[in-house]
Amino acid sequence: MSEHVSDSAEWQVLQGHAEKFSAVHLRELFGSEPGRGERLTATVADLTVDYSKNLVTDEVLTALIALGEKAKLRERIAAMFAGEHINVTEDRAVLHTALRLPRTAKLVVDGQDVVADVHEVLGRMGAFSDKVRSGEWKGHTGQRIRTIVNIGIGGSDLGPVMAYEALQAYKSREIQCRFVSNIDPTDLHLKTHDLDPATTLFVVVSKTFTTQETLTNAKEARSWLLQGLGGDQAAVAKHFVAVSTNAQKVADFGIDTDNMFGFWDWVGGRYSLPSAVGLSVMIAIGKEQFAELLGGYHAVDEHFRTAPLESNVPALLGLINVWYDTFLGAQSHAILPYSQYLHRFAAYLQQLTMESNGKSVRLDGSPVSFQTGEVFWGEPGTNGQHAFYQLIHQGTKLIPADFIGFAQPNHDIGEMHDLFMSNFLAQTRALAFGRTLDEVEAEGADKKVAPHRVMQGNHPTTTIVAEKLTPAVLGQLIALYEHITFTQGTVWQINSFDQWGVELGKVMANQLAPKLTAPGAAAGDDDSSTNSLVQWYRTARGR
Ligand code: F6P
Repeated sequence: MSEHVSDSAEWQVLQGHAEKFSAVHLRELFGSEPGRGERLTATVADLTVDYSKNLVTDEVLTALIALGEKAKLRERIAAMFAGEHINVTEDRAVLHTALRLPRTAKLVVDGQDVVADVHEVLGRMGAFSDKVRSGEWKGHTGQRIRTIVNIGIGGSDLGPVMAYEALQAYKSREIQCRFVSNIDPTDLHLKTHDLDPATTLFVVVSKTFTTQETLTNAKEARSWLLQGLGGDQAAVAKHFVAVSTNAQKVADFGIDTDNMFGFWDWVGGRYSLPSAVGLSVMIAIGKEQFAELLGGYHAVDEHFRTAPLESNVPALLGLINVWYDTFLGAQSHAILPYSQYLHRFAAYLQQLTMESNGKSVRLDGSPVSFQTGEVFWGEPGTNGQHAFYQLIHQGTKLIPADFIGFAQPNHDIGEMHDLFMSNFLAQTRALAFGRTLDEVEAEGADKKVAPHRVMQGNHPTTTIVAEKLTPAVLGQLIALYEHITFTQGTVWQINSFDQWGVELGKVMANQLAPKLTAPGAAAGDDDSSTNSLVQWYRTARGR
């Protein structure tokens, strides 16, 4: 890369704004412009995004857009959608957006008709899920499937489990899904101990089909199944299907590749829910509603691909995140969905954002000279209000927060929903405007206590609302965050699509495994801390 964005005049302009920004308060920004709330609210597909309660002036927004232009954000967006190999460290295209293209779209990448490939797999997934949902697919003993156990980890787990939980209101009552990810055998035990193998289908999901956790769990699950069904190996074909890019490894494991649903190396694990990785979700909600989920993604993809930066919602939110993280020094970002259905959304976004942007080297290999990827975290409201919101309201940290809410509940307990949503609206108001000492004293507070009751306010939030949490809206929300993440990575000039940082721990775990179990004394050739911990473990396990 010839030029570093962080050396540009545009970057310096933002640094200048940041130095004087502590004097700006949301009370004044709203006071001086009565229409700020309406003006800084945008829509994308079914989402309404109010970003007016962010610590941005028009000058800052203009400077951020200029920074996006400097980083060639528009060109990078075009390159991603066109299938250029923007994942340079793995020499791959980054084409999760192709997974949600309509059948009529055209996209040929590296000589391959990507749209035809995607829809061929979607067609097979649809036919399979229809069979499982209708009961036509029978287990080894002739019974229909009642439980899907998805075995996978990281992107092969977090997306499916998040979406399954989010779309509970749309799922079949005939079938339930469970998700096993951890190599802690407790996970597999808890998810299978009360199941009947005769009515259980395992969906083993692994892009590489080499992941230790997934293969170990899948082997254990196969033993459990065979033990429960009398040991006939033929049962495996009726109770195991695979989702992977690696047909050879799937065959080596013993799963018939006729029962495999493929995807491609241009789909990153954390972007893979709309690929065959979403098979368990498709079985739960049906292929038609899965298509609606994909349609939701696609609507936001199109907006991101075509809208100018000034009105491009994911780009604006990504640039605002850069403002907080890199220029104002924020360390974290809270995700606060006011929907119990979205209780795994923050966990899902942790992988999406942190595995993507947890990087400290630019695309050209040079170390970055500024702060990148923030820590994403959160819990559904109102639970978080009674736990960690105190620190956001009155602590010393800058924590931008996204509040996500819906007008219509997916059930009929409507009055309680009104109360719930009044909390949603109250929190962003309290965070922005707080309560001054004068106001506290006017309420008659004791002089000594009054300073403790002051709320400085000026805590930034973005409010994202939609009428109802539907499959389409879920797709829109996910795509929104994917593109926010892309925008940040582009400005930082890092590769948001590799994850070399997780490799070393995996290698070391494989090296340590025999030392925990080998007969006789452990080798003791690691560092002194690890050596004694290995010894502690061996002693505790009587080895
Ligand atoms: O360890 C990180 C990671 O490589 C993720 O990026 C990925 O989603 C996960 O492991 C699982 O990988 P696989 O789908 O290949 O089993």
